[in-house]
Amino acid sequence: MPAMTLVILGASGDLTQRLLMPALYRLHTLGLTRDLRIVGYAKERWSREHFEKHIQKALQAFAPDYKTSDWNRFRHQLDYVGGELEADQLGQLKSKLAPASLFYLALPPQLFGTAAKALGQAGFAKSPRNGWRRLVVEKPFGTDLASAQALRQEMHEYWEEEQIMRIDHFLGKETTQNLIVFRMANRFIEPVWNAQHIAQVQITFAETLGVEKRAAYYDKAGALRDMLQNHLMQLFSLTAIAPLAEVNAEILRDHKVEVLRSVVPITPATVDAHAVRGQYRAGAIGRKKVVGYRSEPGIPRSSCTETFAALRLEIDNWRWCGVPFYLRSGKRLASNYSEIAVQFRDVPGGLAKAVSAQNNWMIFRIQPVEQLDLVVTAKRPGLELAGRQVVLTAPYEMPHDRGFSAYEQLIMDAIEGFRGHFLRFDEVECAWKILAPVLDAWQTGAPDFYAAGSEGPSTQKRLLDPGQTWRSIA
Ligand code: BG6
Repeated sequence: MPAMTLVILGASGDLTQRLLMPALYRLHTLGLTRDLRIVGYAKERWSREHFEKHIQKALQAFAPDYKTSDWNRFRHQLDYVGGELEADQLGQLKSKLAPASLFYLALPPQLFGTAAKALGQAGFAKSPRNGWRRLVVEKPFGTDLASAQALRQEMHEYWEEEQIMRIDHFLGKETTQNLIVFRMANRFIEPVWNAQHIAQVQITFAETLGVEKRAAYYDKAGALRDMLQNHLMQLFSLTAIAPLAEVNAEILRDHKVEVLRSVVPITPATVDAHAVRGQYRAGAIGRKKVVGYRSEPGIPRSSCTETFAALRLEIDNWRWCGVPFYLRSGKRLASNYSEIAVQFRDVPGGLAKAVSAQNNWMIFRIQPVEQLDLVVTAKRPGLELAGRQVVLTAPYEMPHDRGFSAYEQLIMDAIEGFRGHFLRFDEVECAWKILAPVLDAWQTGAPDFYAAGSEGPSTQKRLLDPGQTWRSIA
């Protein structure tokens, strides 16, 4: 009997093929999950052999380092059970579970509650004395505050908070984790990481991708729910947290919640000063012409769903009072460009003016490459004492590093039980609370339009303080 079982509910679906199996396969090839049995569960009544073939095809398509020899070893880890999300049918899994078992809900969000409950009714939520049971839940956790609270209650009928690991895959990204390490393990940063020295923070996640084949989901969600409520809110809280005394999941999550609780509430009267929404029209990404959102297959011709959302958040605490944090994300923008960019205040005094010193920036770049840029002023070579801006760049990965994808990281964390990179319910709740007035306001009216391939709607400017500009994503 293997030491651990991972049951994937929704094993015939897209997430399993594209992300979970390639991650599990790579972890296997690195020798990290040899004693893990992976049991796929889905409503299709497939045989184990059929499931194997299905997964092999997926790996051939999505695992960059697929090799037949590795596959021949990996496939022995796989098993499959077909059935509905009902307790008696899930019962077939009983004989396959190891003392330590993890259930991964790779399901459409509307099934999270049903699945958690059915697993509980089948008796799988109770940890055995010599092991544990954990439940991994994909995003989104609810579609607003009330639905998130209802889902939590449904899950808590059988599962304890400590057993639930809510995924936000951005927390598995190297740059996201580096936000903590780089900032907190270097002496020169902490003293300036506050309102006295920092003028503004811009967190951008721009994509050239459109809605792809996700019309049904995306048109209901929109950019605010799809990206801002979870991924960008996490980058925001991690940028703003107080330093951690130790690597401890609960302290980390407490600190993030503290930031979220200190956000100045947006009210119905201030929504327009804090939030901008946009929707792409036809345009071109590079030379490729693309249709507008409303002409995408499966999208209603009069849809007012936002494909771009920008927010201005302020934090009312000692560290950040007076520093605007800008968050924005959109589809069909000029390029794939993501970063957390921190701008420092002007340098006082005549010398800085004489050498035309510009503001410093510290940029944690996620795309197109993961790297760290420090934008500083240095002397321009020559006879004058003049300055110019130079960028000190640190590539994130060195030649012999072994990087892990976000899903590889998070699967290992889930197996090891490290909850720091998963969302606790109070974080989810706070994020929904912050956005509630915006969600309400956006139920009516229409987004501002922007051409596909552009930098987003020009109205995003209204969120900025005088003298500030959005960083270019082109
Ligand atoms: C997902 C969103 O959570 O994150 C997508 O639903 C988005 O709309 C994606 O494209 C971006 O993540 P990544 O890891 O592909 O950059």
